[in-house]
Amino acid sequence: MHSGAARPSFRDAIAGLPRRTPEEQAEFKRREQESELEREQRARKDRLGISGVSTHIATQDANAVIANKLDRTLMLEAVERWLGQEERSVLMLMGPVGRGKTLCSANAIADNGGVFITAHRVLRLFASRYGRKVFEEQDRILEAGMLVIDDVGREHDKDAPLMCSTLLELVDARQAHRRTIITSNLMVAAFGARYHEPRLHSRLHHIARVFENDGPDLRRAKT
Ligand SMILES: Nc1ncnc2c1ncn2[C@@H]1O[C@H](COP(=O)(O)OP(=O)(O)OP(=O)(O)O)[C@@H](O)[C@H]1O
Ligand SMILES: [Mg+2]
Repeated sequence: MHSGAARPSFRDAIAGLPRRTPEEQAEFKRREQESELEREQRARKDRLGISGVSTHIATQDANAVIANKLDRTLMLEAVERWLGQEERSVLMLMGPVGRGKTLCSANAIADNGGVFITAHRVLRLFASRYGRKVFEEQDRILEAGMLVIDDVGREHDKDAPLMCSTLLELVDARQAHRRTIITSNLMVAAFGARYHEPRLHSRLHHIARVFENDGPDLRRAKT
């Protein structure tokens, strides 16, 4: 049966409740932002862990990536610009040692998730044509939404042709809608000379954005 009494409005219902003071409100907001930050940092740490990059960077560098506190170098900004735009699925980070290629790639993984593999390992993995585990790992590399291939060009000279065909296979399989970062100590001209395969050049010419950095050695600047 209906009681007949009008239900109190929400406004009336809360009118009698004690109000938060402005200080309490500010504290509440601060805590909310803090836990948001913690959640974000946990997500960044998890993405690094899953990708496999953690074992390739120093702990203090990993912590800076997790806290999103890398210096905003030109390379870091180039990577972020690339992540934000749709066309050009390959990014080539090129430059001598210590220019932040691996760290900027790790930051992209922390932002978006992805798989990290050294060129050395990718070479061994794709040279192998048997074993269920090998095929599973190959599929993981081919299908990753974002893949970082680190240090292309450091392989032994005699392996350069194999590296070239492996890159072609990867770029071909992934070019449509997956992102790939290739890092290398070589600059563009030297890269082209080492992997002189017209099909690879043509693919990269159409789908790769290149960032060359011949600036200061950041590794040395810090120590
Ligand atoms: N954006 C950045 N902010 C702060 N420190 C950085 C940044 N980029 C690089 N560094 C510093 O420079 C060092 C070298 O960076 P990183 O390992 O990414 O270089 P690299 O270009 O991959 O070198 P290599 O060719 O030897 O692999 C890092 O350990 C870090 O201390
Ligand atoms: Mg590196």
